[in-house]
Amino acid sequence: MKKRKIAIMGFGTVGGGAYDILTKNREYIKATQGLDIEVKYILDRSDAPLKKHGVDPSLFCPSADALAADPEVELVIETMGGVEPARGFIVKMLEAGKSVVTANKELLAKSWAQLEPIAKAHDCGLFFEASCVGGVPVIRALGESFQGDKVQAVYGIINGTTNFILSKMSKEGLSYADALAEAQRLGFAEADPVSDVGGYDAAYKLSILASLAFHTCVPYADIFREGIESVTANDIKNAHELGYEIKLLAIGKRDGNDIEARVHPAFVPMDHPLASVSGAFNAVYLTGDHVGDLMFYGAGAGAHPTGSAIVSDVIKALGGSPKYCDFDNSGKLDKKLNFVGDFVSGYYICVTVDDKPGVLSRLATVLGDNSVSIKAAMQVPSAADTATVVFLTHRAHEKSVMKSLETIGRLAAVKSIDSMIRVL
Ligand code: NDP
Ligand code: HSE
Repeated sequence: MKKRKIAIMGFGTVGGGAYDILTKNREYIKATQGLDIEVKYILDRSDAPLKKHGVDPSLFCPSADALAADPEVELVIETMGGVEPARGFIVKMLEAGKSVVTANKELLAKSWAQLEPIAKAHDCGLFFEASCVGGVPVIRALGESFQGDKVQAVYGIINGTTNFILSKMSKEGLSYADALAEAQRLGFAEADPVSDVGGYDAAYKLSILASLAFHTCVPYADIFREGIESVTANDIKNAHELGYEIKLLAIGKRDGNDIEARVHPAFVPMDHPLASVSGAFNAVYLTGDHVGDLMFYGAGAGAHPTGSAIVSDVIKALGGSPKYCDFDNSGKLDKKLNFVGDFVSGYYICVTVDDKPGVLSRLATVLGDNSVSIKAAMQVPSAADTATVVFLTHRAHEKSVMKSLETIGRLAAVKSIDSMIRVL
């Protein structure tokens, strides 16, 4: 059987995981897929990661040019992360006729529109199953299992680090900082964890998933994004009392020409399946107009789950012809589509006020004046002479809630608006 030579650029968590699978399961892949895949080079800053991983340091390649120039290398895995030099290296590989398999959602969300034409021009593939939802084959499902259905929604938990942090805070009472440090130690977090906690990583992934789901470019820059940095232990306690968990959700919807795409923390009812998705696990719902709701669940980050998605793409790339996306991938929203900014949601609002008669009714009046209807209210003990008031609202327009909060913030009796979190 002919050896199929490939290379890996970036030998950290994911690159190492992919290498493990390719070597440990090499015979199995030969037997089941008819492909004998050999890693010929590994590019990194030095050979130190290879030595640390117990890999023959002679595989180390210091230069992308040398890698691109080797005609034996058919395909390159990019697991370096970041935009540059990853983008430049990928372009070099595509221009040299090598297919690329990447886990880099940031690069893809920002540069898909430039990379795909280069791949097409050189008749090679750009594969990215590992870029979204770790080991869960949701990109494959979107491309190969939903052709007959119009996908109306793609939503769920698509960032492992934030789900890990929120789960640790919720279940073990860990502080935000300690939970983040543990996620970093376990290799889930991005090199700059602001990408995770700020919701950027989820927005990159939502841009990719929503584009594929809705057959139109959903630009990353248009996605509403809010991270988990301001979620407090108090919010989690209030959520529990009201029967909810807090999760960072990514939500994409298409209704005719209306597209909605947003990433933000959300109260999720305890009896909703997403509420029990814990740790670095992810879960994504795809709603088709005929198949209904399908939920995809599994490890959303980590060396071997993500490595598994990489290897699956390597096998697909080496075994067949490249497939490109089926829409005008210009990087811009199609002119005939509207991006819905004033979306509708339930809201949790937490306000600290003077503990005086009439204050609660003033808050309720402001909400009512803006057509925001209260579903539940509770008063939580607070410091002397103040009270913390918590509201859950029925579904309301985002702009109406924002306007209410502006007015509430100006009331003399209001000490602080402590939190506002949307409700699924
Ligand atoms: P790591 O930081 O663990 O690995 C990246 C490796 O690439 C490191 O060894 C790094 O070296 C090396 N590298 C970075 N820049 C360069 C460069 N300019 N030249 C040579 N080597 C370089 O990252 P991960 O494996 O966690 O992530 C890699 C990619 O996979 C990212 O795009 C990430 O978003 C994505 N991903 C990660 C998942 C995870 O669970 N970790 C899951 C799904 C996707 P150094 O450490 O010295 O910078
Ligand atoms: N940092 C990412 C996460 C890695 O935590 O989900 C997987 O894409």
